[in-house]
Amino acid sequence: MKFKDKIVLITGASSGIGEAATIEFAKNGSNVILVGRRKEKLLEVEKKLSKNNVSTFVCPCDVSNKSQVKEMCKIVLKKFNRIDILVNNAGFAIYGKISDLDIDEIESQMATNYFGMVYCIKNFLPKMLEQNSGHIVNIASVAASFGLPGIASYCASKFAMLGFSEGLQHELKGSGVRVTVVSPIMVRTNFFDHPSFDSMPKHSATSLSSESVAKAILKAANSSRLEIIVPSFIRGAVWAKHTFPYLINPIIGSSFKKQLESYKKSK
Ligand SMILES: NC(=O)c1ccc[n+]([C@@H]2O[C@H](COP(=O)([O-])OP(=O)(O)OC[C@H]3O[C@@H](n4cnc5c(N)ncnc54)[C@H](OP(=O)(O)O)[C@@H]3O)[C@@H](O)[C@H]2O)c1
Repeated sequence: MKFKDKIVLITGASSGIGEAATIEFAKNGSNVILVGRRKEKLLEVEKKLSKNNVSTFVCPCDVSNKSQVKEMCKIVLKKFNRIDILVNNAGFAIYGKISDLDIDEIESQMATNYFGMVYCIKNFLPKMLEQNSGHIVNIASVAASFGLPGIASYCASKFAMLGFSEGLQHELKGSGVRVTVVSPIMVRTNFFDHPSFDSMPKHSATSLSSESVAKAILKAANSSRLEIIVPSFIRGAVWAKHTFPYLINPIIGSSFKKQLESYKKSK
């Protein structure tokens, strides 16, 4: 098995996509390190892994906090002395117009979604380079390719993640360390429980299950590609946006703007 006995660290392992990915890696024989802020939730997920006969380790940490990430990395490397796969999955969004959000709300999304990833990579990359092996899997979103009204600051954090990953992938060529981004469309998780989404539809008919995204994450952890979009046919929409931006952007923009306007009315 490709993932047997690998040391895999997943941020945001206490819920949704991160939880499903943790379970999938453990099913495939990986030893998993569960990172997130809520220790009790991480312990609940860890309990579900007991039948898999793998090592598990819960390490509570707020990834937006530079010194907590440094400490978490120290603890993990002291215990395992290696890291094979780092999944930067912790993230959230606050819905609303930029003119209505305050600066702290905008900064907090960047702090977790983008800088949380940067801190984890900066702390674990030296070990991967020393090992001449490792795979970093960053969970972005299709929002890394479309700037959407209502989630502009979230989109910015995911665009940043994708750009950082692309540059890093070039830098790491020949080092044995790889980077792959997983970009899903809407997924049925607790992501939309944030109060800013209160009057929004939580899921659509096309929403994915977190289990299907987890499978894509394992595929990504064994892939040389920069980005895996889930489902794959959405790649066509991204291609169309980059190829015919003057045609596609107004269509997408106005449909999301309508949603934003109706959200405002219902508030
Ligand atoms: N759901 C979607 O439609 C969708 C679509 C595309 C991409 N994504 C991305 O997928 C990732 C996972 O989201 P999800 O849908 O699984 O949402 P979720 O169920 O709300 O899970 C988010 C996870 O991130 C963790 N987290 C949040 N802030 C954190 C912080 N500062 N430090 C450490 N952990 C933190 C949470 O754990 P704690 O609260 O315990 O810290 C939780 O485990 C996110 O990056 C999101 O942007 C989601």
